[in-house]
Amino acid sequence: MEKQITIIKGDGIGPEIVNEAIKVLDRIAIQYHHTFHYREVLAGGCAIDAYGTSLTQETLDACIHSDSVLLGAVGGPKWDHVDPSIRPEKALLGIRKGMGLYANLRPASILPQLSHTSPLRKDIVDQGIDFMVVRELISGVYFGDKQTTEENGELVAVDQMIYREHEIRRIAHSAFQTARKRHGKVVSVDKANVLDTSRLWRKIVHEVAKEYPDVTLHDMLVDNCAMQIVKQPAQFDVIVTENMFGDILSDEASMITGSIGLIPSASLGEGSIGMYEPIHGSAPDIAGQNIADPIGTILAAGMMLKYSFDLSKESDAITAAVNETLNQGYRTADIMEDGAKQLTCSQMGDKIASCIK
Ligand code: IPM
Ligand code: MG
Repeated sequence: MEKQITIIKGDGIGPEIVNEAIKVLDRIAIQYHHTFHYREVLAGGCAIDAYGTSLTQETLDACIHSDSVLLGAVGGPKWDHVDPSIRPEKALLGIRKGMGLYANLRPASILPQLSHTSPLRKDIVDQGIDFMVVRELISGVYFGDKQTTEENGELVAVDQMIYREHEIRRIAHSAFQTARKRHGKVVSVDKANVLDTSRLWRKIVHEVAKEYPDVTLHDMLVDNCAMQIVKQPAQFDVIVTENMFGDILSDEASMITGSIGLIPSASLGEGSIGMYEPIHGSAPDIAGQNIADPIGTILAAGMMLKYSFDLSKESDAITAAVNETLNQGYRTADIMEDGAKQLTCSQMGDKIASCIK
């Protein structure tokens, strides 16, 4: 198989972690006889420095015209004071929107080897943590009209939260289809006791549910969900929710696994093309030191193989290699523990690549 992958290393630790994911992809290419072509483009803070804007049309075109995008992380304090219209985060939002990637899949699962790193009580962790947050990614308050005006001598800011039926319908399908491949349980999270967008959300999700009689559906209010995720995470299989609730809940979900550096994510639309990235940020404080954890990005590359290229065997080989490396006691600084062997970012990439079978 021959694939064209757009590479966005981004800012902070982005370049370091993406290099390790490429190392692992190259290993897969050799072992399984595929050819991956990489085209590197700039987005985020580094693009502001180079072009004066975080996302150029050429960069977006490169993404759209490839088979998938692998991204490290964007942003950092250096660009905290640039104009909001060109902020590094705008690149992410622009790529998501420009590529039509409405479904963001964020797994929250805990590897047995690392279960002690969870901040939750052991008896809660022992019940198991293994669920998927399916977050709507290109609508809601993130993409509604925004403006700051003056009213009676003071500033007034408005962010419009908007959802259209078709936007809810398609993400609901993503959630039910995801649940079908897992344990067949969807919890739809909203704030239907207050918001109109949530009442519409609930109505449409229930309509779509009729097409999936084999999947169970429960509604949950977002504040309750935030509690349930720490109280009894084992109850969840698939959580589907709107953009901003999903942003917040997926951070909470990743935190309870105790190893945010290990979690990948996939952003998908109608076609097979997607964008894959670790869920952590650019960690500017440790950038350039070769100590970052590349596992989230390596597993993101694995998700790309499965979801965009339909290469499940190869994807599983990456997961297995990560597991084997951890089982052998190798750790990066973020998950270091007594008795383990600490590796640098690039050593971790080497180790995982060498475990690919
Ligand atoms: C995320 C991030 C982004 C978001 C930011 C950087 C715009 O927090 O991917 O979760 O809010 O979507
Ligand atoms: Mg976030």
